[in-house]
Amino acid sequence: MQGQRAELDWRTGDVPVSVRFDDPYFSLDDGLAETRYVFLEGNRLPERFAPGFHLAELGFGTGLNFLAAWAAWERAGMTGSLQFTSFEAFPMSRQEMARAHKAFPELQRWSDQLLAAWTEEGGCFDLGTAALNVIAEDARSALPGWHGKADAWFLDGFSPAKNPELWEEALMVDVGRHTKPGGTVATYTAAGFVRRGLEVAGFAVERRPGFGRKRHMTVGQLV
Ligand SMILES: C[S@@+](CC[C@H](N)C(=O)[O-])C[C@H]1O[C@@H](n2cnc3c(N)ncnc32)[C@H](O)[C@@H]1O
Repeated sequence: MQGQRAELDWRTGDVPVSVRFDDPYFSLDDGLAETRYVFLEGNRLPERFAPGFHLAELGFGTGLNFLAAWAAWERAGMTGSLQFTSFEAFPMSRQEMARAHKAFPELQRWSDQLLAAWTEEGGCFDLGTAALNVIAEDARSALPGWHGKADAWFLDGFSPAKNPELWEEALMVDVGRHTKPGGTVATYTAAGFVRRGLEVAGFAVERRPGFGRKRHMTVGQLV
C-alpha cells in the first residue's frame, strides 16, 4: 500500500475530508479542543511527560495531534525531544497540511517547523524538541515490524464503521505488544469491537464521556 496519497475534499473552508473514507480528519466543531480532550487528557498528558517519553499514533493525517502534543511538551518545559511515531498509509502533501493547519493559528510556530521539514515519503524528522518518525505504510503490515514501544498511543483512524481495518483486533494486539508496561491508549470511539480488541490486547479499558456531541470515548491502560 506504500506510495498512495490522501484524496481530499474540503468542508466549511479548511476542514479536510477523506474522499476514500468519506470522513473528516478532525471535528468540524473544534478539532484542537477535541485533540486535547481525547488524546492528551485521555492519556493523562502533559502530567505523565518525562524525559524520553514516546508517543505513537495510528493515522498521522494532518499532523494536528502531533502538533498539539509537541506544543504541550514545550509548554510543560520539557527538555530533550518528544519521541513521536505515527503510521500513515495515505500521506498528505505539504500544501494540504498547510491548508488544514490554518484553522489553528495558535499552533503556527510548530506547524511552520513541521511543514518546512515534511515530505510525503515520511521518515524521521529531527525537529529539535521533537523527534518525529512517520512510517508511511499500512499500519497493519508496518506495526508488527516496528522495534519501538510507546508510553502512550493515539488511536485515530477514521470512524470504525468506515475504516474498520485500522481498528481490528489483530492490530490492537500489536498496539499492546508495542506499549510499555503501564502504558496507555486513548481514542474518540467507544465502539464495542474496539473496546473488546483492546481488552484482548491486555488493556484495562474504561469508557469516558466523549467530546462535544459524542456520548462516549475510550481509554485504556496496559495491565
Ligand atoms: C482521522 S484521520 C487522522 C487524523 C490525524 N491524527 C490528525 O491529527 O490530523 C485517520 C488517518 O488514518 C489513516 N489511515 C487509514 N487507514 C490506515 C491504515 N490501514 N494504515 C495507516 N493509516 C491509515 C488515514 O489516511 C488518515 O490520515
